[in-house]
Amino acid sequence: MDGIAIFGLGFVGLPLALTYTMFGKKVYGVDINSEYIKELRQFQTHILENYKGKTINEILKESIEKGLFVPTNSPEEALKNVTNIIVTVGIPIERGTLKKEVFSNAIHTIGKCLKKGDTVLIRSTIPPGTTRNIVKPILEKESNLICCKDFYLAYSSERIAEGKAFEEFQTMPVAVGAMDEESKKRAVKLLSIINKEKIYEASCPEVVEISKLMENSSRDVNIALSNELASLTEALNVDTLEVIEVANTHKRVHLLTPGIGVGGHCIPYSSLYIFDKSDELNLPMKLLHTAREINDRRPLDVLKTIENKLKDLGKEIENSRFAIIGVAMKDNSSDISESPAMRLKDLILQAGGNLLWFDPNVKGNFPLRASNTEEALKDADVVIIPIKQDNIRLSLEKISANAKKGAIIFDARRLIDKESAEKEGFIYITV
Ligand SMILES: NC(=O)c1ccc[n+]([C@@H]2O[C@H](COP(=O)([O-])OP(=O)(O)OC[C@H]3O[C@@H](n4cnc5c(N)ncnc54)[C@H](O)[C@@H]3O)[C@@H](O)[C@H]2O)c1
Repeated sequence: MDGIAIFGLGFVGLPLALTYTMFGKKVYGVDINSEYIKELRQFQTHILENYKGKTINEILKESIEKGLFVPTNSPEEALKNVTNIIVTVGIPIERGTLKKEVFSNAIHTIGKCLKKGDTVLIRSTIPPGTTRNIVKPILEKESNLICCKDFYLAYSSERIAEGKAFEEFQTMPVAVGAMDEESKKRAVKLLSIINKEKIYEASCPEVVEISKLMENSSRDVNIALSNELASLTEALNVDTLEVIEVANTHKRVHLLTPGIGVGGHCIPYSSLYIFDKSDELNLPMKLLHTAREINDRRPLDVLKTIENKLKDLGKEIENSRFAIIGVAMKDNSSDISESPAMRLKDLILQAGGNLLWFDPNVKGNFPLRASNTEEALKDADVVIIPIKQDNIRLSLEKISANAKKGAIIFDARRLIDKESAEKEGFIYITV
């Protein structure tokens, strides 16, 4: 019985499950969302990934038809058929509060069906100490089994970027920390089925848990620095990206690109998972807090910049029409979690602006969605381009034909040529 059960079929879990099926493994994919399980059985998912010319939907169909992938909402069905269990259920954050019960409920469920000889590998991003202090006791209590004797437990962080999941599960080096040597050996074996890169064996789960959080938080700090730089260069009328390009010619400097904020779960949540522990220990973690504040405030800073330009034109947010083209949390994504573009949208609405947005990748019934770029752009006083979605055909001609004459174009991705836009009378702003 060498099947695998994967708990959580989201942006990580589904492509991870399908990657194992590509290597011939039978995978039971468990998700609590029954509607979603029905969709998966009909080869439908909101996740945008592709691999070697196939879409995730095509890979899903193939894996189900070959009998290699079984999407289910029954943990019992899954766990009676496998010895390896991978957890990708995360810890959501609502209004700054960690909803730890979402993750721990999944662990309780697994504990109830755990058998002698099973291996549990946690791949979710979690606060330091969670594998040892939360997962192990729950599994032991629910199963009446003893960790490292009856079952095995390890942690390996997930490092993929959405949109590159299939490739990066196989090519991104991973690290693993475990409760004992046998757990580590089993986890390495499970990881190496799909990952042909180096698997770094750490001394304990905490090293890998904290390393994952720092990998993300280091990007938060770096982006905060670039966003702060953007405020400086904007005030001095100097090109931010040119400054970064020059600075990065230094061999030991790597500044990241500024934007309208930091979205997704990975980066913003990591610092909050660290604060969960550091607050308990009364550690100030000033730098990480400051980086969070700078990046969180970024959509508001962007709106202030736009508001100032509107004022120069004798307009105000209240009576202006805004078009936001692309609202996902980053380029070529369907994910709107913690999306700075969505936050900017809410800020504009709160300030009384009129708004339409367009993003073909974002699924779901959301208010103020236009059905195409033209509709969103119609009569806009301000056109905001926060991200780049390759399937949005946006051009200066399209903006000219639909937006108001002399509109403001806020182009965070430099998709529109500044000179041409200004020649046509637009006010062009970038970061
Ligand atoms: N998205 C990324 O690119 C990425 C990259 C690296 C690490 N991570 C981490 O991986 C984890 C998963 O992230 P994600 O983006 O896939 O999340 P997601 O929200 O897309 O998916 C989580 C899934 O878990 C399901 N779920 C919730 N409770 C469950 C339960 N008790 N049993 C079974 N399923 C349950 C939800 O219905 C959902 O489908 C998080 O810890 C995240 O921080 C994500």
